[in-house]
Amino acid sequence: MNEWPFAVFITNCRGWWLPLSSIVKKDPFTNMANFNGKNILIIGGSSGIGRELAGLLLQAGAGVTTASRSQPADLGNAAYLPLDVEQPVGEALSSLPETLHGLVYCPGTINLRPFNRLTEGDFLKDFRINVLGAVNVIQACLPRLKQSQGAGVVLFSTVAARLGLNFHTSIATAKSALEGLAVSLAAELSTSRIRVNVIAPSLTDTPLAKLLLSSDEKREASNKRHPLGRVGTPADIAAAAAFLLSDEASWITGQVLGIDGGLSNLKPL
Ligand SMILES: NC(=O)c1ccc[n+]([C@@H]2O[C@H](COP(=O)([O-])OP(=O)(O)OC[C@H]3O[C@@H](n4cnc5c(N)ncnc54)[C@H](OP(=O)(O)O)[C@@H]3O)[C@@H](O)[C@H]2O)c1
Repeated sequence: MNEWPFAVFITNCRGWWLPLSSIVKKDPFTNMANFNGKNILIIGGSSGIGRELAGLLLQAGAGVTTASRSQPADLGNAAYLPLDVEQPVGEALSSLPETLHGLVYCPGTINLRPFNRLTEGDFLKDFRINVLGAVNVIQACLPRLKQSQGAGVVLFSTVAARLGLNFHTSIATAKSALEGLAVSLAAELSTSRIRVNVIAPSLTDTPLAKLLLSSDEKREASNKRHPLGRVGTPADIAAAAAFLLSDEASWITGQVLGIDGGLSNLKPL
């Protein structure tokens, strides 16, 4: 359901008739934030968390554009732009709407190896996809984000940026840089009323994490490592991203939000 099923009008204190959807921030039927009239760009909307988020935002009334190397299947009214963030991005993003109310950057890597088996090329590739790709996309979108006077940018880090985990040196280095980018950018863009926040998930059941969850034994061990007893789902993470994009989060910026089943902060007895 992309729209409310019928229009409800009410009068304001001056006696003007207004659609209820322009006043109520949540859709009463889904209890979701209302994204009617908002344009959101999701880089990496073809699978995993980005795909889940695209579906959620379409349901909440947003105009969604996804950009990735492959086209997402079954995404209803979403627009699609072919894009590889390891290549120049300006031309590929030139047909976006003039105003963007939200930008989400999903591309990421999981290249887990002992430190002495990681090459400079591995570190550079992780940095290129996780950090420079985000830098280039944000720069290309900045004029459109400024137009909206209240845009939200959401980036993805990992629990491993702040919690030491074996074999994570390359991805932790790249995602820590991304967190630094986000907090500094949040300060710089605050005068344009652009909010920049980061979600730091723990292991989440997406194609990216397929190898880590490829057997019942691995899944069970990963479930047990999390205080809440399970790995994450794309829906767990997408819900947080939708919140950070919404008007309900209009006073939240420069934050790193751990969505990790308690892994980063808890050690239950
Ligand atoms: N899943 C986890 O366990 C986990 C844990 C911690 C953090 N995270 C972070 O969460 C974010 C989302 O991860 P996910 O699990 O949803 O990953 P995913 O299922 O692999 O989805 C990644 C998306 O990014 C796109 N993408 C990848 N490389 C790209 C490129 N070079 N150019 C353009 N698009 C590209 C992919 O589309 P195409 O392949 O079609 O281009 C896909 O749509 C990532 O930043 C990841 O680091 C995930």
